[in-house]
Amino acid sequence: MAKGTTAPVGVFDSGIGGLTVVHAIRRLLPRENLVYLGDTARTPYGTKSPDTVRRYAFESCDFLMEKGVKALVIACNTVSAVALEAVARKYPVPVVGVIEPSVAEALRLSGSKRIGVIATAATIKSGAYTRALRKREPKVEVYTRACPLFVPLVEEGWVDNDVARRTAEIYLASLRQSGIDTLLLGCTHYPLLRDLIAAAMGEAVTLVDSSPTARALGEVLRRHGLARRAGGGETGFFVTDATERFIQVGGRFLGAEVDSAVRLER
Ligand code: DGL
Repeated sequence: MAKGTTAPVGVFDSGIGGLTVVHAIRRLLPRENLVYLGDTARTPYGTKSPDTVRRYAFESCDFLMEKGVKALVIACNTVSAVALEAVARKYPVPVVGVIEPSVAEALRLSGSKRIGVIATAATIKSGAYTRALRKREPKVEVYTRACPLFVPLVEEGWVDNDVARRTAEIYLASLRQSGIDTLLLGCTHYPLLRDLIAAAMGEAVTLVDSSPTARALGEVLRRHGLARRAGGGETGFFVTDATERFIQVGGRFLGAEVDSAVRLER
C-alpha cells in the first residue's frame, strides 16, 4: 500500500544508542513523525552472530511496519552491517542504514584516503565498512578496531573518567600509529565518547559519526515524494524491556528528555 507524507518514519535500534540518530533526524527533519523501537530486552547485538541479529531485525521491523511507517531507518550499526540488504529486500518501503551515509562523508572529508573504523565486534567482523569504503574508493586504506567495552562504558555514563580514557588509549593506540586522517565512529554509542576519542586520536584526525544518516533519509523521502511539509514533529518510543532505564539513560543519547516509552508485550 502506498504511504502518504504524514505517515511516520520507523527507526530501529538494538536498544538505547539509536537515540543519537533520532537526535540527528529531529534536528534536520523536524516535521517528520518518528516511531522508535529499541530492542532493549535483547541488547547488545554487537556481540551476537549475524543470523541472530537478522532474526531480531526482522521481528523488530515487522512491528514498525505494523505501525504504518513510510520508511525504515536502521539506526544500529551492527544491524546495518549484517542485515541491511535482507531488510531492504523484505519490506516494501525505503530502507536507510547508517553505514553508507557516513562512509560517503568520511571519503569526502579525508585527504589522505587513510580511514579508520571503530565499531562493535560484529560490525568489524562483518567487513561492511571496509566493503562500503572500497566500493566508492578502491584505493582507500582502511584500518579497523573493535571496541567492545565502549558500549557498557557509555551506558554506565563513564564517558569522562580514567577508566574510559585508559580504555580509549588502549583501543585506539594502533589506529593512532596508522596515519589515518579520518575516523568513522561506527556505533550508536560512540558520539558520547567523542571528546575522549578526539583527545586520544589527536587534532589531525577528523571524527565522523552516523549523523549524515539524517541527510540521507531526507534525500530518500524527497525522492519518493514522502517528505512531510507541515505539522508533525512527534516521536513515539517503544522498547522490549522495562521502560525505566530507557527513560532514565535515554536523555543523554537523545540530547533531550525521553518523556515516556511503551513496553511491547511479546
Ligand atoms: N547499537 C549497536 C551498534 O551501533 C551498539 C549496541 C549493541 O551492541 O547492541 O552497533
